[in-house]
Amino acid sequence: MKIRQATRAEIGAVSELATKSYIQTFKNRFTAEELEKRIKATRSIEFYNRAFNKDIILLAEEDGKLIGYVQFGEPTFDVIETSDEDKELQRAYVLEDYQGKGIGTALIKSAFEHPILKNAKNIYLDVWDKNYKAQKLYKSLGFEFVAKWDEDIIMRKRNIHQSG
Ligand SMILES: CC(C)(COP(=O)(O)OP(=O)(O)OC[C@H]1O[C@@H](n2cnc3c(N)ncnc32)[C@H](O)[C@@H]1OP(=O)(O)O)[C@@H](O)C(=O)NCCC(=O)NCCS
Repeated sequence: MKIRQATRAEIGAVSELATKSYIQTFKNRFTAEELEKRIKATRSIEFYNRAFNKDIILLAEEDGKLIGYVQFGEPTFDVIETSDEDKELQRAYVLEDYQGKGIGTALIKSAFEHPILKNAKNIYLDVWDKNYKAQKLYKSLGFEFVAKWDEDIIMRKRNIHQSG
């Protein structure tokens, strides 16, 4: 398994991976119609055309197949006041067949090593309040609960690389 940064030339493959992993994760939570609407807004080529201007995407690849990704950048929520020094781990997804093998952990740890997160004061994320598996993983990586937001919770990791 290899982890590397995605390039804009891979926009189609990234959108495909993001769509597939989103469907696997949320097929039982949303209706087909709602799922389609959400994918168009947040996983489509049009979405990633904009995302590549501002976010960093790291891909996990095995035998030439994309199997997971993390996406991070500026905070995207306004429920908590953040500063310019704060960043957000926006997405972490591993395809179903590859989960539970340490790939999600490796992706997130690689993201922590990227200058954008390494130099952040706080790293935030939001996660569905019923996604206990992801929450447990985030806790083990140093994130703690800071706020409830609709059906999501916001978690924060204070950066150990920064003082004060
Ligand atoms: C959350 C997610 C990204 C985690 O990725 P993952 O690759 O399954 O995570 P890991 O394998 O690193 O860790 C998961 C578990 O496997 C364990 N694990 C880690 N390395 C392992 C290894 N080499 N062999 C076996 N198990 C391992 C971890 O300890 C962890 O155990 P725990 O659940 O008891 O804490 C993945 O489950 C996923 O894509 N879920 C659906 C999407 C989602 O919910 N994303 C978050 C939305 S905010």
